[in-house]
Amino acid sequence: MKCKFCAGRCSLVNDFGDMPIANGFARLEMLDSYRFRLRTFFCEECKLFQLSEQPSPERMFNKNYPFFTGQSKKMTEHFEDLARNKILPLVKNKQNPFVVEIGSNDGTLLENLKSHKIRHLGVDPSESVNLRAKSRGVSYFQSFFNLQSSVDIVKKYGQADVIVAANVICHVSDLEDLFKGVSNLLHSDGVFIFEEPYLGDVIEKVSFDQIYDEHYYIFSVMSILNICKKMGLSLYNVERLDTHGGSMRFFISKDLSKLVESNVQKEYERELTLGLDKFETFSYFEKKCVKKRDAIVSLLEDLNSKDFTVAGYGATSKSTTILNFCNLSKHEIQYICDSTPQKVGCVTPGSNIPVVSTEFMRQNPPDYLILFAWNHEAEIFSKENRHLSKEVKWIKFIPNLEVIQIG
Ligand code: TYD
Ligand code: ZN
Repeated sequence: MKCKFCAGRCSLVNDFGDMPIANGFARLEMLDSYRFRLRTFFCEECKLFQLSEQPSPERMFNKNYPFFTGQSKKMTEHFEDLARNKILPLVKNKQNPFVVEIGSNDGTLLENLKSHKIRHLGVDPSESVNLRAKSRGVSYFQSFFNLQSSVDIVKKYGQADVIVAANVICHVSDLEDLFKGVSNLLHSDGVFIFEEPYLGDVIEKVSFDQIYDEHYYIFSVMSILNICKKMGLSLYNVERLDTHGGSMRFFISKDLSKLVESNVQKEYERELTLGLDKFETFSYFEKKCVKKRDAIVSLLEDLNSKDFTVAGYGATSKSTTILNFCNLSKHEIQYICDSTPQKVGCVTPGSNIPVVSTEFMRQNPPDYLILFAWNHEAEIFSKENRHLSKEVKWIKFIPNLEVIQIG
């Protein structure tokens, strides 16, 4: 396969088989039979880790898309911090600054700029999230972000001082068009900040559940450096984050003379140590993914054979890869609890496991709870420690498969 970005030679890493839409939680009677082949490739030239195919964006981000940033306390606090400590300092000396967010969801981030009376615009294709943003007084532009929509935005609102995106650039398969759109929309001294799940964490934690339809790319510092080089942009800073199971925040400037912070070199060198430039690292990763799958399946078979009940915690998008790759159903996992009202009453995509409320789980506690929302481990353990009896055991599979008791 040829690299989607640089047309370089790509080698196959993972083949997870046929997968449904990761966020396709639906009522049993409304199930979508659509499947696509989930395979990953590594580009030997630009070092970009990528999927070979992706469902159409309209299939993934439709009006039923069940993700609302504002429903997560951790993400709400994270975006308050991003606005206060990263975006506001960049615009504080500007005349009538303008900030654009790509994939603005329900306006959780931009609300922090609105409250400082900063001119802003959220760009998002999904009507349901845009209506929530509107109800908060956040301005929006309903569209996918690309070169064409950037032209429309500049015409209507002018260029931006800051463009920001969180957990969305990795969804966009045509990166060249996206970065052309960013260059077009950004002022000559403007800054583009985006943060995405980080490849270094996926490799180190063998968190292969981060691989699903929406994560078309999983970026490293070295792949973003190569992208910037081709697009005439400069990566001048990076920051590691603990959100979404390990992310990287990238700071990009149009001004090629802007001072590059030492963090960029530091993280680049760390990636060389991890081997993120070499196919062998990915080949080894693939073997570890299969080994982890086999260990999860045999643990669940063992528990089932002893008549223990097992339930899941967090009907995440990530769990779709695990459940389907491990070929699990409600025989192995009786239900999965989740705090998102839109998911309760649905079944998990492909594996058809019922999603129930957290309260239902607390009233009908299983013997074992498998932690699918592992990126929220600290918050979940401290909360459930108060609600669940000490008898309930937890199954963790990140970084290694283990059974623990909390409290
Ligand atoms: P998220 O972190 O967005 O992961 P993904 O991108 O893989 O979907 O989703 C976390 C899910 O876990 C979400 O559906 C809400 C649920 N959740 C709970 O049910 N209880 C909790 O205490 C937390 C923090 C999350
Ligand atoms: Zn490439």
